[in-house]
Amino acid sequence: MKIVVAGTGYVGLVTGVCLAKVGHNVVCIDINEEKIYKMKNGISPIYEPGLEEIMVEMHEKGNLNFTTDYKNSYKNADVIFIGVGTPEKADGSANLEYIYKVVDQIIESAEKSCLVVIKSTVPIGTNKEIELYINEKIAEKGIKIEVASNPEFLAQGTAVNDTLHAKRIVVGVESEDAKNILREIYEPFNIPIVITNRESAEMIKYASNDFLALKISFMNEIANLCEIIGANIEDVAKGMSYDDRIGKKFLKAGVGYGGSCFPKDTKALHWLAENNGHELKTIKATIEVNENQKYKLLKKSRRKFKSFKNLNVAFLGLTFKPGTDDLREAPSIPNMRVLLDEGANIKAYDPVGVENFKKIFKGEKNLKYVQTPEEALEDADVAFVFTEWKQITGVELKKYKELMKKAIIFDGRNCYKLEEAISANVEYHSIGRNTIFME
Ligand code: UGA
Repeated sequence: MKIVVAGTGYVGLVTGVCLAKVGHNVVCIDINEEKIYKMKNGISPIYEPGLEEIMVEMHEKGNLNFTTDYKNSYKNADVIFIGVGTPEKADGSANLEYIYKVVDQIIESAEKSCLVVIKSTVPIGTNKEIELYINEKIAEKGIKIEVASNPEFLAQGTAVNDTLHAKRIVVGVESEDAKNILREIYEPFNIPIVITNRESAEMIKYASNDFLALKISFMNEIANLCEIIGANIEDVAKGMSYDDRIGKKFLKAGVGYGGSCFPKDTKALHWLAENNGHELKTIKATIEVNENQKYKLLKKSRRKFKSFKNLNVAFLGLTFKPGTDDLREAPSIPNMRVLLDEGANIKAYDPVGVENFKKIFKGEKNLKYVQTPEEALEDADVAFVFTEWKQITGVELKKYKELMKKAIIFDGRNCYKLEEAISANVEYHSIGRNTIFME
């Protein structure tokens, strides 16, 4: 079977690499020549643990190729996976421009019937719409192209493992043929397959992401209340987690969810519902809570410092979560903006996010990047923790005490135990827990 994957971002490249890994023959397409050049030379264009190694191995084995030549690749393809981005538009709806760009290229190039599989997260009804659009345009070619939905559930930082050992594969199809092709492709993975119609498959993706986002916002709200009434959110989460109807995961309070998925998928589903005259009250609340939560640390610190002007800030963690270089919707960005606008002097540390961060904050003379968390802490008046990288959580609180002018810490990811803060004698503000003051 000749499989082509369009797009070499987190979804597309991981899909291509993992399909090759289980024995398929895969060609990955991207319009960006530099990316293709890099991949041919063994360099992954994205940071994702384990990805580059398998990519190189499969390329050398001949299972995996890369090209910008979409014409030749789509011409005889049996199956074309689309894994390009669907960012959010200003009104919160999903931007399908990149998907349609690929679709138009398929229309232009396909010379035989094939199956187009949409992996990108798309609004409910899109698969059907795309199939109608394609077949209207290729009517004279005498071929038929079917579209199937196959949403992706990988998380960044664990993408390869999430794909090779997924909990389920969701397939939305309208024909036996499409069902059989996708069954054959996924058979070597040995993972349960949920087969449904396309609309349900599209909805499973949104409902799953939005439910997880809701869980986080719920915990953040409870954390905010814990602070007022003197409860400890970590203990509360632990106590809740023994109930397997609730589960152990996604109960961590913090400075809100970021990334390329939850923020856009909550807004897109909310927009879609509104557009159909229906209000999703829980999703609306999820979004609102997250917006406020992003600024939680700065709000707390304003009670401590009258002004950020000339304050020496250790800014620890830039990416939206550990294990990725992705900064999309990272809470660090709006917070950095406020601190810089208000005249703070910042030393920022992140193990992999700096290069991408520099592209967003160009020419800021008060923003310096450092190689270690310790360098950031040296002579700082205050430390903010935005990402729980292990390089950051591995720094003991007594080091903060040793290095900072005065150890005042605002931890947005609850990286430390309160007992450690007490014994290190630091001022420690975290999320949903009592504040520890110095003696
Ligand atoms: C998310 C989903 O977890 C994947 O299943 C999904 O496939 C993916 O979106 C997608 O649609 O492509 P991802 O955005 O990579 O994956 O990252 P997550 O690990 O889900 O984290 C998202 C955000 O939630 C991060 O900012 C993280 O810090 C935050 N989070 C997560 C919390 O604040 N608390 C938690 O308990 C868990």
